[in-house]
Amino acid sequence: MTRIVQYSENGDVDRLRIEEADTPRTGPGQVRVRVLYAGLNPVDWKILGGAFGAVDGTSGIGADFSGVVDEVGDGIEDFAPGDLVFGGLPHHAQAEHLLIEDPDERLDKVPAGLGIDTAAGLYIAGRTAIAGIRAIAPTEGETVYVSGASGGVGIIAAQIARDLGARVIGSASEANHALLRSLGIEPIAYGEGIEDRLREAAPEGIRAAYSTQDAAELDLLIDLGVPAGRIVSIGAGPGVVESHGVRTDGEAKARREDLRWLAQAIAYGHIHVPVARVFALDEVQEAYRHLQQAHPAGKVLLRVEAKPLTPEQRAAVIG
Ligand SMILES: NC(=O)c1ccc[n+]([C@@H]2O[C@H](COP(=O)([O-])OP(=O)(O)OC[C@H]3O[C@@H](n4cnc5c(N)ncnc54)[C@H](OP(=O)(O)O)[C@@H]3O)[C@@H](O)[C@H]2O)c1
Repeated sequence: MTRIVQYSENGDVDRLRIEEADTPRTGPGQVRVRVLYAGLNPVDWKILGGAFGAVDGTSGIGADFSGVVDEVGDGIEDFAPGDLVFGGLPHHAQAEHLLIEDPDERLDKVPAGLGIDTAAGLYIAGRTAIAGIRAIAPTEGETVYVSGASGGVGIIAAQIARDLGARVIGSASEANHALLRSLGIEPIAYGEGIEDRLREAAPEGIRAAYSTQDAAELDLLIDLGVPAGRIVSIGAGPGVVESHGVRTDGEAKARREDLRWLAQAIAYGHIHVPVARVFALDEVQEAYRHLQQAHPAGKVLLRVEAKPLTPEQRAAVIG
């Protein structure tokens, strides 16, 4: 048997429950992953809440995961049982086992140097960050603003902009400022007075911006003189292309190779993606409330499985 986080009515996170089902078996061309960690994203609870339409029957939740391949179907050559992998399977990932029908599209091996926990938080946030940074293309010496720079997307986008040579100002709650400073990002508090603080922090002007917030933030950035064509918005909906003339390159614009690029950048120590907190699968509702309310820095994860030690592992520890 396997356990899956599911819901059958739109609403708050209290609609989530853990159900049991038969463990899926692989068919030709398929890979089964025993999930170790699953990553949470705001889009999960937006989908749960009905922002993208009513749930049709019963749905799983979550896209991001990492785990270990435990069964492969006929014809699979690139993956084998025991491989550590990570990737994304939208509406399914918070489960003990995942059946991956298109492993070449959805799975990558975890490179040496990338933690199996960190790997579980990259699929949506990482690909979104890269697509947006590609759209605004920061250059050496430019001042770039990243809002929500302590969040899952912002913390990656800000560090890529930094590594492209930009001076990066990032907004976050006060409690997350020390972390941003340690990553070479100049922190700034969001909320009332931000316009004055940004003018003071960048008297020479802001040349490009990665906006994770609402359309009011876009008004502010345009007032500050940031060229609309060099603002990317991932939080204000598609209408801002027409209303504000900004870019909205998000996850859908990511390229297949982006996730591998990010995995290597983390493994080699260029980019740091903090794991803010790990919850057990049974604590899924609490985990989403934490993401919504606690201002975590970096990613919130579920630890999906705690498998008993094998006899060999036990023997190695206690004889
Ligand atoms: N279009 C796409 O393809 C796409 C893909 C992924 C995400 N998104 C959207 O992008 C947004 C960010 O995603 P995420 O995963 O980074 O979320 P997250 O991990 O929850 O991070 C949210 C960030 O926003 C900051 N923040 C909270 N309230 C704020 C406010 N009033 N003003 C300015 N900043 C504020 C937080 O700062 P503190 O925690 O320090 O307070 C944190 O840095 C979400 O709306 C998400 O749905 C869109």
